Amino acid sequence: MKFSLLVFIPLYLGYPIFQQLFNVDDSLSSLPDATVNKTTLQSWVNDEYNVAWNNLLRNMGNSSTCNDDDLYPGVIVASPSKVQPDYYYQWTRDSALTIRTLIHYLQDFIDSPDERFNEYQWLIEQYIWNNYKLQRLQTMSGDFTSGNTLGEPKFMVDNTPFNEKWGRPQNDGPPLRVSSILSFMKLNLTYKTGLNDSFIFNEIIKPDLGFVANNWEKESFDLWEEIQSLHFFTSLVQLKGLFDGIQYIKSNSLDLEDEFLDHLQSSYDNLKKFIEFYYVNSNANYVIETPNLFPHTRSGLDAAVLLGSIHSHDMNDLDVNIPFDIDNNYILNHLTYLTRDMKSRYPINHNLNQAVGLGRYPEDVYDGYGTSEGNPWFISTATAAEMLCKLVYKMISDKQDLVVTRANKEFFNMVLPIDDSDGFFIIKYKSKVFDELVDSLIKLSDSFLVVIKDHVDLRGGISEQFNKYHGFMEGARDLTWSYSSLLNALRWREKIIDFLN
Ligand SMILES: *[C@@H]1O[C@H](CO)[C@@H](O)[C@H](O)[C@H]1NC(C)=O
Ligand SMILES: *[C@@H]1O[C@H](CO)[C@@H](O)[C@H](O)[C@H]1NC(C)=O
Ligand SMILES: *[C@@H]1O[C@H](CO)[C@@H](O)[C@H](O)[C@H]1NC(C)=O
Ligand SMILES: *[C@@H]1O[C@H](CO)[C@@H](O)[C@H](O)[C@H]1NC(C)=O
Repeated sequence: MKFSLLVFIPLYLGYPIFQQLFNVDDSLSSLPDATVNKTTLQSWVNDEYNVAWNNLLRNMGNSSTCNDDDLYPGVIVASPSKVQPDYYYQWTRDSALTIRTLIHYLQDFIDSPDERFNEYQWLIEQYIWNNYKLQRLQTMSGDFTSGNTLGEPKFMVDNTPFNEKWGRPQNDGPPLRVSSILSFMKLNLTYKTGLNDSFIFNEIIKPDLGFVANNWEKESFDLWEEIQSLHFFTSLVQLKGLFDGIQYIKSNSLDLEDEFLDHLQSSYDNLKKFIEFYYVNSNANYVIETPNLFPHTRSGLDAAVLLGSIHSHDMNDLDVNIPFDIDNNYILNHLTYLTRDMKSRYPINHNLNQAVGLGRYPEDVYDGYGTSEGNPWFISTATAAEMLCKLVYKMISDKQDLVVTRANKEFFNMVLPIDDSDGFFIIKYKSKVFDELVDSLIKLSDSFLVVIKDHVDLRGGISEQFNKYHGFMEGARDLTWSYSSLLNALRWREKIIDFLN
């Protein structure tokens, strides 16, 4: 993939402005071991795109760049780091999200499959086979017959169970796996490894769907593995998993026992109603990640909310079936307030104008090794960039006028002063203000990517976090999810560039 300059906003991408705005020290880019050119956002994106792919694949068993023979085929390790911290495991959630980045590539290049395409398809199929095995392990969460083992969060890289104390269960893994695998099946590719649709559906998807339908009302640990409760991220991806499953069954006229489909349908209906009331509160005009802790222990602000939104919407007509899309006011407000909080909370953000390094949530104390103080994370910051790109994509492809009201004006005011003295303000599609707004949102998204650029290392390596005082990377090195979330953001940036050219 090649990234061209955004021709319609040449000023912004002009290097001198960047340097003033973000105080970029590009003298480092000329050091001998530098392999990514950090001079401009675009020069960095051009280099980082390939580095991120290579480093992501290095963490997958049987890939072309993997040099770790201990990783079984289809295994996606969270990070190669084995000590300080030890992330040398495969997680159901992280793997299901990472494999999506490969599936996106197939979706984008299905008409012109190249070598990469073929390798990614192979790896996705290995991932599917591997999950068939993981699902059937007896773990501390239970066994396959009862279905309880499906909530097991993590496994060793040789596919043996992890038999130590941990935050169990984590009920976001199975629905994320369902949605990822179904989105691959929808491509109708000819399988390379002897898989077939009925095997995948009956043996892998169906048990996961049953697990979601049976467990959505139950508490489990959140995606950060810290709190046992009901969480927005978990609930929303469960709803998405159920929806994708029901869609697949209906559109392929699968001959299942009616009871199973009815069970999925009623779970979807009930969970949808539950999400719509449980995660909003009259004392906050944003979605609350873990309502049980609101407001005393937690503000409810959490990058998990943004991740939940982007990972349960596919930017197509079916998105109306899942609430809290990326243009929902409660989601837009969430980004506004999280950004505002992090700007004042983390010293490295104090001098930044718009975008900042986003952490997970304000109350975070995990520093990447133990507990002290939270830091900005690459995943959170890339997620903000992706969400903004998707919003822009929606605005320019929907071709609708935009209505700014009291309910969303704080978000739009981040980039454009808007007079809503009448209570609302209509911005006509294609008007000067509309185009300015689109430009400003793209700039805002790009400035989140600039924050990432400024903190990754000179070879393009990306860890988990960057220190809130001095900005250097911390936490697990080469975090698979960091590469995946950056590549997802770059994908949507590229789609906007293509759309506008
Ligand atoms: C880095 O990128 C800048 C801007 O595109 C370019 O002028 C410069 O030549 C590049 N440096 C190297 C070492 O490639
Ligand atoms: C992946 O596995 C296949 C089948 O076991 C093997 O033929 C191939 O060489 C492996 N590829 C890599 C890059 O390890
Ligand atoms: C895949 O096959 C299904 C069922 O035959 C069809 O409805 C769908 O449009 C196909 N999808 C693609 C991407 O070709
Ligand atoms: C589908 O794959 C499974 C597992 O390899 C195999 O047992 C089954 O016979 C296959 N079914 C068809 C219809 O090819």
